[in-house]
Amino acid sequence: MHPVRIAPSILSADFAILRDELVMCESGDADWIHIDVMDGRFVPNLTYGEKVIATVRRCTSLPLDVHLMVIEPEQYFDAYARAGATGITIHAEAAPHLQRQLTRIRELGCRAGVALNPSTPLDVVREVIDDVDLLLIMTVNPGYGGQKFIPAALDKIRRARALLDQYGSTADLEVDGGIARDTIAACREAGADAFVAGNAVFSAHDPRAEIGILRSAAGAA
Ligand code: DX5
Ligand code: ZN
Repeated sequence: MHPVRIAPSILSADFAILRDELVMCESGDADWIHIDVMDGRFVPNLTYGEKVIATVRRCTSLPLDVHLMVIEPEQYFDAYARAGATGITIHAEAAPHLQRQLTRIRELGCRAGVALNPSTPLDVVREVIDDVDLLLIMTVNPGYGGQKFIPAALDKIRRARALLDQYGSTADLEVDGGIARDTIAACREAGADAFVAGNAVFSAHDPRAEIGILRSAAGAA
């Protein structure tokens, strides 16, 4: 299990002052910046793509953790890699050729991630375990920030940790959705090592401090 990494999701940032928000994340010692790409098809919401990734790339030196909630994700790999993505995570539910798609992400020099919706069994990952650099267990149904953490996800995180360990995989085990002071410790205890937080960071009274508070809360597990 890796040390705790905190990845603020800019979905909840104020885009009128995006550069300031990114500077705040850096000064609060965030580890990654999480970028949620939604296409209005795979999920009901529509967000941003290449241009925002490139803009964020210009504003920060932190790794960019790009989460694609889109159908036919392979359409975007080249452009997002060029725009500066460090890692590209695709949903297994939208990736019928998961092995080929993960291999392509690596060929482009990015870390290859697989995300699973709450109702998707963990088993698909077993078949591609050597092609995975990051496993993202969704702890809400994707589409929106500020949703409530689904407690049943904890058992899945535990099983995901066991799966990675069983195969000697050093992939990151990331959780996303409803991660906050009151949920992060249980996720860490279950074996997660990367924590996306949108609302918890950006709606906090002191967002910069909140990143450290989340890290300590996770570390206390
Ligand atoms: C949800 C996105 C998340 C979102 C998390 O569909 O994948 O990354 O930004 O937001 P919070 O932390 O507010 O639940
Ligand atoms: Zn996300």
